[in-house]
Amino acid sequence: MINNETYLLYSALCYEEGHCRRTQHILKVYALAKLLGEQEKISTEDQQILQAAAILHDIAIKYCKKHYNGDASQEKQKKEASHLVQEFLQEANYLPSYIPKIVDLVSKHHDYRKEKSKLLQILIEADLIVNCYENQPDYKKSKFIKDIFQTTGGKKLLELCLEEGI
Ligand SMILES: [Fe+2]
Repeated sequence: MINNETYLLYSALCYEEGHCRRTQHILKVYALAKLLGEQEKISTEDQQILQAAAILHDIAIKYCKKHYNGDASQEKQKKEASHLVQEFLQEANYLPSYIPKIVDLVSKHHDYRKEKSKLLQILIEADLIVNCYENQPDYKKSKFIKDIFQTTGGKKLLELCLEEGI
């Protein structure tokens, strides 16, 4: 049986047209968000919202690159994420009540400094761990990233990644 999350993941991967880095990034952030959400014992509904946000969190990059002459800055992504996320979720038949929550998570996933909900915290941690594996940060950046982390599992996984890079 194909549930709406599987449909969403497949749609997002097809949308990326085999782009190597972005395709793998989606899969990795999705897996880690699922793991951290389960460790943090969030509700089933929140788990579905989190996992959909993880699948779509960088969906605006391709669109922005195409429509803004290669400019996929965070500002541009924020501007375009909302309508893209809504389209993907509607197509995958997500409950209308979930959609604004998922849009909100995607739009805020670079807002490291502001007050964060539990779900946003987990999404940010999953994304940052994957980013650290993809681009090993220098000492200063590692320090900045470490200070963002709050969950036990996220802290541990980040530590393993950063230690491996030494
Ligand atoms: Fe990302």
